[in-house]
Order: sequence, then C-alpha cells, then structure tokens
Amino acid sequence: MLIPKRYLVVLGLIIGISATLPVTAKGEIETQIAKGKYLVEIAGCNDCHTSGYAPSGGKIPESQWLLGDSLGYRGPWGTTYPINLREYIGEISENEWVKEAKVLKAMPPMPSWALNAMSENDLRALYAYIKSLGSVKNEVPSFLDPDVVPKTPYIQWPMPPK
Ligand code: HEC
Repeated sequence: MLIPKRYLVVLGLIIGISATLPVTAKGEIETQIAKGKYLVEIAGCNDCHTSGYAPSGGKIPESQWLLGDSLGYRGPWGTTYPINLREYIGEISENEWVKEAKVLKAMPPMPSWALNAMSENDLRALYAYIKSLGSVKNEVPSFLDPDVVPKTPYIQWPMPPK
C-alpha cells in the first residue's frame, strides 16, 4: 500500500517534534540548576547554612551543602540556627517557595532582604538547584530565647547598650 506523501510529512513532523521535546525540557532544567547553584554561591547561602563552610574557606563538598548548622547565632533576638534548606525545600512546592521567599522575615542574621529582592526566575532557579541536591535529614537545634545560654557552640553578636 502506498502512503500519500503528505501523511509521511505529518508523521515525520510528529516524530521529529516528540524526539526533540524531552531533550529541550531536560536542557532547560539543567540550565535552571546551574543558575541556582551560581546564585547560592554568590549570595553566600553556604556561609551560614553549610556547617564549616566559611571557616574552611569554602572547602566543603557539595554533597554536604545547605544541610543547616548547629552553630548558633546569639544576640538580642535570642539564638538562631541556620535551617536545613534541603529538607525545607523538599517539603514545599516551587510556587509556595516563590510566595514565601518574597515576603519572609526571618530572625538575624538571616539576610531575608536578599531573598525578598530576588526575581521570580532566580527564586525558581534556586529551588531547582536545592531540590536537585536531594532532601537529607539533619536536625538543627531550635531557637532559644535571649536569656537561655546555648549548649551548642555559638557566635555572640554585640548586645545593645543598656
Ligand atoms: C549570615 C548567615 C546566613 C546567610 C548568609 C543565609 N542565611 Fe538563611 N538563615 C540563617 C539563620 C540563622 C536562619 C534561622 C532564622 C530564624 O530562626 O528565624 C535562616 C533561615 C532561613 C530560611 C527559613 C526562613 C523562615 O521562614 O523561617 C530560609 C528559607 C533561608 N534561611 C534561606 C537562605 C538562602 C536561600 C540563603 C542564601 C541566599 C541564606 N538563607 C543565607 C542564616 C543565614
């Protein structure tokens, strides 16, 4: 049986398009992930959210990035601990993250303003990258009130003058 040429052209187009689609989507995700990694590096998220990152001069393997830290930051606000961002991202949707990051006001020394100022595209890239690292459990201590002395190591920020 002879297939009319115009059907062959249509068939060819369908095969051609479906073959390139997944490749394009995959390429886009990889670009998003690379951009997200770049943002994490230049915005300094590892400085606090990766244990040992700043004191080692950034020599912590990527597999251990953003798992939170039990080094406390103590000041007039109490003692805060950088959260495990990989678990955090693992528990919310991309859209929830974008909404939350635009308005969040965490306690010091978290630079909430850095996240608030990011474009939606940058926030989506950040999400894609952190998600790609995988959610790994690593508990960090809970917030302590100002009058509680932390049992973990902590960095003391100056108290306001009395
Ligand atoms: C100077 C240290 C520091 C840097 C740099 C930093 N964080 Fe944080 N981050 C913290 C601390 C401490 C907390 C916990 C604050 C609290 O308990 O309210 C926190 C909390 C958070 C939270 C939870 C906010 C919430 O709703 O409770 C998110 C999300 C977050 N950081 C993301 C980031 C990202 C993304 C970056 C890089 C752009 C970053 N952080 C850079 C210290 C830091």
